[in-house]
Amino acid sequence: MTEGRGSYGKLVVVGQGYVGLPLAMRAVSVGWDVVGVDIDANRIKRLEAGVSYVEDISSEELSQALASGRYLPCACYDAAAGFDVAVITVPTPLREGNPDLSYIEDSSRSLAEYLRAGATVVLESTTYPGTTQELVAPLLEAGSGITAGRDFHLGYSPERIDPGNSIWTVVTTPKVVSGVDERSLAAVQGFYDTIVDRTVPVSSPKEAELTKLLENTFRHVNVALVNELAIFAHGLGIDVWEAIDAASTKPFGFMRFTPGPGVGGHCLPIDPSYLSWQVKRTLGQPFRFVELANDVNDHMPDYVVRRVIALLNERKKSVNGSRILLLGLAYKKNSSDARESPSERIAELLLTMGADVRVADPHVVENPLEDRVLRVDLDAPQLSDADLVVMLTDHDAFPFDLVAEHATELLDCRRVPRLTSAKRL
Ligand SMILES: NC(=O)c1ccc[n+]([C@@H]2O[C@H](COP(=O)([O-])OP(=O)(O)OC[C@H]3O[C@@H](n4cnc5c(N)ncnc54)[C@H](O)[C@@H]3O)[C@@H](O)[C@H]2O)c1
Repeated sequence: MTEGRGSYGKLVVVGQGYVGLPLAMRAVSVGWDVVGVDIDANRIKRLEAGVSYVEDISSEELSQALASGRYLPCACYDAAAGFDVAVITVPTPLREGNPDLSYIEDSSRSLAEYLRAGATVVLESTTYPGTTQELVAPLLEAGSGITAGRDFHLGYSPERIDPGNSIWTVVTTPKVVSGVDERSLAAVQGFYDTIVDRTVPVSSPKEAELTKLLENTFRHVNVALVNELAIFAHGLGIDVWEAIDAASTKPFGFMRFTPGPGVGGHCLPIDPSYLSWQVKRTLGQPFRFVELANDVNDHMPDYVVRRVIALLNERKKSVNGSRILLLGLAYKKNSSDARESPSERIAELLLTMGADVRVADPHVVENPLEDRVLRVDLDAPQLSDADLVVMLTDHDAFPFDLVAEHATELLDCRRVPRLTSAKRL
């Protein structure tokens, strides 16, 4: 079908966040009639007003989708009635170290009321293997009175969205798809074939669920490896960054990961723990790689603070009373997402020690640290008045030359090429 014309049918995207909104926009552009359901009434109001809060979606794109008449943001499920396909993209956080599947449960129950024979439901939220068949299927069946596989199609397709990545987008990133039976797989794959360039079928939802956890655990473990290496290399007086650059010239058998102040966002600090929780619960064994990676990555903010203490100490200063300017609140470069950001933990630790902490971040709108930390615009006086500047998130929007020129002392946790005189992590 030609992009932007006609209609494939009615799609409901449950959850209009970092995952759901880009999916909804893409679906509108290829010809689906889309209802975007979200229980957050404020988000729905902003969507109705054409104001995007997800950086990969511009307000212009959102406004065009609204103007096309094929995108309806809605705070309740009524508008889902008669859907052909529904995709669930709700949060899956940890609560005290345990998976919190209450959002999946609530949305499955709500969706079940509008589920009819022949329709397709896909779960995209990251979760442990078994969720689709053991949790979502019974809830949909109980609420609708019809059976997964026999009467309606059900599957799982992990989201691989990488916010801010303009090369690997919703469309160009291959999408793993699965179904509870063959007909479900065909329906799920058929749906995503209208959305993305390439689909990758696997034999059941459990393999698809595990795929996502494998991908994120792989990244989590490798980030932990270079983080721990950075700590030891510093102690040994060796430049870890140069070693990583050199190792990256190997054309096979090595993949580049770089150290940082810790991991953040919605994936690495959370997803691997879904897997270790399930392994522990089902097999009674610890998933040692995950536990070790959690331990190393969770302690990186402490290490950054130790380096801050040492740098101030060299100049006969204490953290208590020093002004420390943190550059970057977001957990990753060019992103506005500050969820689980190590910057927040670093700021908290420095505040506890009596520092005057200030933060500059051109992307993050909300301030998770509220009035305890002053948000500042990055200028020469802010830089020169700080006893120490710490580069935590290397947003392209930062004026690196200004930072290099005016910072009295600089700790660079990201190895920014233009900050040549900085002390590195
Ligand atoms: N953000 C990413 O980069 C990313 C990447 C891959 C996978 N994921 C996974 O995708 C899922 C969603 O993540 P996200 O980043 O989009 O989260 P998000 O918090 O940005 O968006 C989720 C939305 O779901 C809404 N919601 C919660 N309960 C609801 C309900 N019962 N009915 C309707 N809406 C409801 C919330 O109000 C919120 O707006 C998570 O499982 C996450 O792990 C996220």
